Amino acid sequence: MGFGRFSDDGREYVITDVRTPSPWINYLENGRYFATISANGGGISYDRSPLHGRITRYRINDVPPDRPGKYIYVKDRDSGEIWSLTWQPVGREPAADYRVAHGFGTTRAEAEVEGVRSSVVFFVPVDDDREIWRAVLTNASGRRRRLAVVGYVELALGHALVDLINQCDDQHFNRVRFDPELGALFATKTYWVTETRGTQHQENKEWDRWAFFTVNRPIAAYETVRERFIGPFRSESSPLGLEKGLSSEDMDCGNAVAALEVALDLAPGESADVIFSLGVIAKPEFERTKRDVVGRFREPAEVDAALARVREGWDRFLGHTRARTPDPGVDVFLNGWIPYQAKVAFDVGRVASFYYWGIGRGFGYRDTAQDTIAIAIAEPSRARERVLLLARQMTADGRVYHHFYGDGQGEFTKHCDDPLWFILAVTEYLKETGDFALLGEVEPYVGGEKGTILEHLLAVVRFAAGNLGAHGLPIFGRGDWNDTLDYIGGKDGGESVWGAMFYAAMLNRLLELLEHRGEAGRHPGVRGLRDRLIEAVEAVAWDGAWYIRALGEGGRRIGSKENRYGRIFINTQSWAVIAGLPDRGRLVRAMDSAGELLDTPFGPKICAPAFLEIDPTIGLITRCVRGKKENAAVFCHPAAWLIQAECLLGRGERAFAYFKKLLPDRVDPATFVAEPYVYSQYITSDEHPTAGRASHSWQTGTAAWMYRVGTDHILGLRPSYEGLVVDPAVPRSWKSFRTERVFRGTRYLVEVENPDGVESGVRSIRVDGRPVDGLVLTPTGAAVCRVQVTMGRTE
Ligand code: GLC
Repeated sequence: MGFGRFSDDGREYVITDVRTPSPWINYLENGRYFATISANGGGISYDRSPLHGRITRYRINDVPPDRPGKYIYVKDRDSGEIWSLTWQPVGREPAADYRVAHGFGTTRAEAEVEGVRSSVVFFVPVDDDREIWRAVLTNASGRRRRLAVVGYVELALGHALVDLINQCDDQHFNRVRFDPELGALFATKTYWVTETRGTQHQENKEWDRWAFFTVNRPIAAYETVRERFIGPFRSESSPLGLEKGLSSEDMDCGNAVAALEVALDLAPGESADVIFSLGVIAKPEFERTKRDVVGRFREPAEVDAALARVREGWDRFLGHTRARTPDPGVDVFLNGWIPYQAKVAFDVGRVASFYYWGIGRGFGYRDTAQDTIAIAIAEPSRARERVLLLARQMTADGRVYHHFYGDGQGEFTKHCDDPLWFILAVTEYLKETGDFALLGEVEPYVGGEKGTILEHLLAVVRFAAGNLGAHGLPIFGRGDWNDTLDYIGGKDGGESVWGAMFYAAMLNRLLELLEHRGEAGRHPGVRGLRDRLIEAVEAVAWDGAWYIRALGEGGRRIGSKENRYGRIFINTQSWAVIAGLPDRGRLVRAMDSAGELLDTPFGPKICAPAFLEIDPTIGLITRCVRGKKENAAVFCHPAAWLIQAECLLGRGERAFAYFKKLLPDRVDPATFVAEPYVYSQYITSDEHPTAGRASHSWQTGTAAWMYRVGTDHILGLRPSYEGLVVDPAVPRSWKSFRTERVFRGTRYLVEVENPDGVESGVRSIRVDGRPVDGLVLTPTGAAVCRVQVTMGRTE
């Protein structure tokens, strides 16, 4: 009962029933120019920032959803029949005439309607800031056809939030001009706001871009005003302009659109290319470059070459890790869709999707730091840039913007965890690359002073040391990783047990770095703080069979067997392990409790049971409906940490069972609703009537963590300062598997044998035929190393 399936090579998700239960989208982007596109052509386009550089409109939470988009209409000039090359917006039945394949950086829509076969590929070139819609139409009807083909977008032109809340005034600054000589529409707004809020402040400037829309054939007609294109009491489904003809008039004032019409006369069997380009040109370069810019990508060969470069780019990125396990369904995700999603989330900064509209917030500090770990393997230079960007969002006393825009704007909140994520991003980058010069790089703090990256790390330690409550645990403030535990402790202020484990885990990472650099002795406070945090957790947080989540008002225990709701939380079980708490008995018991009390057919819940009464001394979590979001949904991101923790305990069987269960295509897609090829933020749990429904797909840290947990901990090749550590944790039934990993310039081809069917434990390792001691593959500088690993009982 699916809507589609993966192609045989796993590189595409092919949607054969385009009536998907929600918009199933893809991203087309090169890190500067971004477009989303659903299986029905809906989606946005923006230049660098979805807030300030919005090119096209997308009507938020609309009915019907997923409009407008990147639409190519076809009209039979003889019969008057009209359809679109994606099923929507015209929605001509049967929908079975349409298929869509989402791949890495490309989406291809195919159809055969009225005897006209079509295939349109949407993509963004690697080195050109535009989106290309390359359509091929073939006359399969056996008679001569006279067609009109119309490309259409609705334009936003600048600040997306101001466009939304101030349209009545904003439209007076919209200008769209047709340039007959160049065969292009150019559009801009002669007014622009660069603040991040909706504001009454009128800045004295214009949008710094010209948007352009062009096509590779002579233009028969064009349109620039939405009302003229759509007509009264109509929608994109049946535009009046297509029936009565486009006006071919420029616009001053109104809802700006760009529509270009070309005529095609096709003999039976004949095909024609129609190539649309939508993009932007920076104003200072406009006059000098416009001719060249709109003149590009008019020839199919040039477009094909650009498309090949997009594919090569993804091959290179994805080729840094490789899995060949006994479970090909898992390989499709580990080799493609998980790292793909992680890279997209990194590039997009998690701000724009069908769920997040790119208008409400900047890059999250913790989100950005976590996304960096997925990129460090294949694009270390971009991870490095991001680390430096994160450094610039910090004050000299180690506080950080909770979210930021990269242009100096950001917002401080009182989340107790944010600054510590910096340690994760820095140490993961350094383990991957060995580029310790990073530690000496100087970056300004918010406020102007400057410090090296090492000094930034030490500022974080000072922040942590200064943020401890009466029980020695971090003062909760307005939340920790869990944004909805935002009023823990009421007026007293609460303390975070997870926060203590997290601080300890990050301080462990910093200590490991300092020790490797021979500098641990110069910073004794780091070890001391780590030890005190662990002692505090062990003293107050053990609840008999698991660790509690927090101390609330009057020292009340939250996430405890004493509670009616939210008796157990996932994060204080997994992070007890990740932080390396000393009592293995407790760790195993805590992880078993998580399995017993949190696991469901859809995956493990974030907490249970759900809160059914509002508790203002806990916060938003208790105000949320049961079984969704943080209130006892299967929140996929912390589920990744549960898997990591199972691996660290050596329990590969359980780890893999969770991993497999959480893969997005493992459930009935009509119930799942969201895309089956990427993770969603959460899956509704068994505590809600819509159990199994996923939401907030794409922009979640789940992808970055599942990628790293899958490759580092299940397949078991993880970077350390000394080299690549070999330590798989797999199901007993895996008698052998292969994996590849590029690390410090060497491609490791690893074959793992598991003759005794163990879950973890390495008995021997041979590199290029020679036995090595220990579990670390020390860098040799060779281009390729063949590694044979034999798992087995080690006692
Ligand atoms: C959302 C936020 C993330 C937070 C999580 C849990 O995914 O983006 O930063 O940690 O919710 O509240």
